[in-house]
Order: sequence, then C-alpha cells, then structure tokens
Amino acid sequence: EGAGKSTQARKLAASLKDHGYDVVLTREPGGSPLAEELRAVVVQGEADRMDALTELLIFTAARRDHIRTTIRPALDRGAIVICDRYLGSTNALQGAGGTPHETIDLLHETFCQLVPDLTVFLEMDPKASLDRAMSRLTQAEVAEGRFESKGSAFHMEVDRIFRHQCQTRNEWVSVAAAGTIDQVADRVLSTVLAHDSFPKNALARAV
Ligand code: TMP
Repeated sequence: EGAGKSTQARKLAASLKDHGYDVVLTREPGGSPLAEELRAVVVQGEADRMDALTELLIFTAARRDHIRTTIRPALDRGAIVICDRYLGSTNALQGAGGTPHETIDLLHETFCQLVPDLTVFLEMDPKASLDRAMSRLTQAEVAEGRFESKGSAFHMEVDRIFRHQCQTRNEWVSVAAAGTIDQVADRVLSTVLAHDSFPKNALARAV
C-alpha cells in the first residue's frame, strides 16, 4: 500500500510495449465497464456501509466480469496482461477485515479461477506505507478513501498478509520499492523479464 503500484504498472506496460509486446494494462477493482461501476460502489462511502461478505461478493463479481470481458480475451490472443491489484489484494484487505481465507479461496475457485503467472510485491517499510496511504486522504482521492479510513491496526494486518503471501506463494516476487520511480521501474522490469513465466517465444508474441 502506498508503494507506487499504479505508477509502476504503467511504467512496466510502457517498457514492454517498447520491447514490442502486446500489453494490456488494467486494474482492480475495475478493468471492464461493469467492474468499474462496481468499483464505485465498493470503494466509496463510509467504512461500515456494507458487511465484509457483501464487500467480498462485490469484489468477486467485479473480478469475474473483468476476467470474462478483458483479461481472458487478451490472454487468448497472446497479450501480456498487467493488472494493478488482483487476488492478493483481496486476501490482504478482506482477510484483514476478518473474512476467513477459506471463504475467499472458495469464491475465487468457484467464480474466477484465474491465477497470475507472476505477482510483483512492491515491498516498503509498513509505517511509511501507512503514512503514504493516509496522506492520500488529504488529496483528490478522498472520495475513494473507504479502505484508507479503516485505521492503522487494519493497515498493519494488511501489510502482514501481503508479506505472508510473498513468502509462501511461488508466483510472488518481492521488489524493493525504495528509490526513485525509475530505479524501481528498472528493478520491476528486470524481475519480470527474468521470471520463468515470461514468454520465451517473445518475438512470436510481439505485435
Ligand atoms: P486502488 O486505490 O489501488 O485502486 O484500490 C482501491 C481500493 O480497493 C483499495 O483501497 C484496496 C481495495 N481493494 C480491496 O479491498 N480488495 C480487492 O480485492 C481489491 C482489488 C482492492
């Protein structure tokens, strides 16, 4: 949280496009017209405006539509899909909110299934992450502050679950988020290019 994910996702997409790849940059919640509407429902308003399971159902519905209409068609034509947040955020944020991981896994397996080849975890000091997330509340994103308003204990738990996923899941790789935007972007790009999942038939996939 607060590590510059969206900026880095954009930079990675631009670099891979420069290398000649067909790249689709997308985000969650959102990434399809219906899922963008669901985003507005789930990220705006008071922290307690819906219960945890309603929230999880909306994230899952948004993800299902996003996969069906945006991600799957892109993968099927051979594109590289870069998604700003995905299932790891559900595990961290809804998990920190008290939803059992079995419930999150069950909904994912039933309605979404798709798991990324690689998840890049931008690692930063948890206290700095909290400060960055909180500082966003004073800026234009105040209208989307439903999660940021949940308090520091919640944020520390989110951070713990992100780190736990990074330590326990094979497809997760940690990249240090310290340094300039360009330094981090270089690290992210080299991590992605070197990863086993990166398409080796690179030129065949290029458009
Ligand atoms: P963003 O600000 O990074 O676009 O994310 C919007 C908010 O949605 C953010 O506070 C994290 C939250 N979120 C979840 O709680 N669960 C999820 O599965 C996703 C994708 C996002």
